[in-house]
Amino acid sequence: MSINQNLDEIIKARRSIRMFTSEMPTKKDIETIVQAGALTPFAALANTGKDARKFFVVSRNNPLLNKLSSVVKNRAGIFAEQFKAQINSNPILQAQGQGFLKRLELTAQQGPLGIGSAPYYIVVAEKRGIPDVQHKSIAHCMENMWLKATALGLGFHLVSITTQMEQDDEFCNLLNLPFGEYRLDGCAIGYPAQNPPQPIRPRIDEVTTWYI
Ligand SMILES: Cc1cc2nc3c(=O)[nH]c(=O)nc-3n(C[C@H](O)[C@H](O)[C@H](O)COP(=O)(O)O)c2cc1C
Repeated sequence: MSINQNLDEIIKARRSIRMFTSEMPTKKDIETIVQAGALTPFAALANTGKDARKFFVVSRNNPLLNKLSSVVKNRAGIFAEQFKAQINSNPILQAQGQGFLKRLELTAQQGPLGIGSAPYYIVVAEKRGIPDVQHKSIAHCMENMWLKATALGLGFHLVSITTQMEQDDEFCNLLNLPFGEYRLDGCAIGYPAQNPPQPIRPRIDEVTTWYI
């Protein structure tokens, strides 16, 4: 198979895997996933240098994982209360925000999916800069890591609540990150215990306008 065909296969095979076996991926595999993340573009105007982008790899064998999970669980409860108050006074949010509120409430009750339910939780942090493009930059990083995990036969899902943990000093302290200085996102990785059905995706001709 050509490099081009291999790339197409990996892009097609990438899925959100939310259930994992108990098998631990090797440190070597996780290292190559982090390497793939480190190769992604960064906003040179906003941020450069070795403190610009950091990776925190936390395995379920380390007690830190439970601490992070419980901080996220508590914070999700606070966010849920704040968001409920917001949507009660805003009809547009009221109509569109129910799904997000439910997700926050579930996280506050059961703990965050991916932090503890997967062998590895990885947080990517990027130092805030001007312009404030670090979440975009981290999204590139996540996609590379996701594709690399897929190529290795590993499952991956985003743990987006990590982004909101920028606002939690306890979470930042646990990772030895100066509070308020970094943008965050996270993901969960392990061996897949599910093969989810293909989502319905629009055909390219349904969503593309050509001006050629
Ligand atoms: C910005 C963004 C945030 C997401 N956050 C989460 C998340 O927190 N947890 C999760 O399980 N999936 C998350 N997803 C994954 C989507 O639900 C998923 O990509 C989509 O349903 C399509 O399924 P697929 O990834 O299997 O192709 C997120 C995706 C995007 C683009």
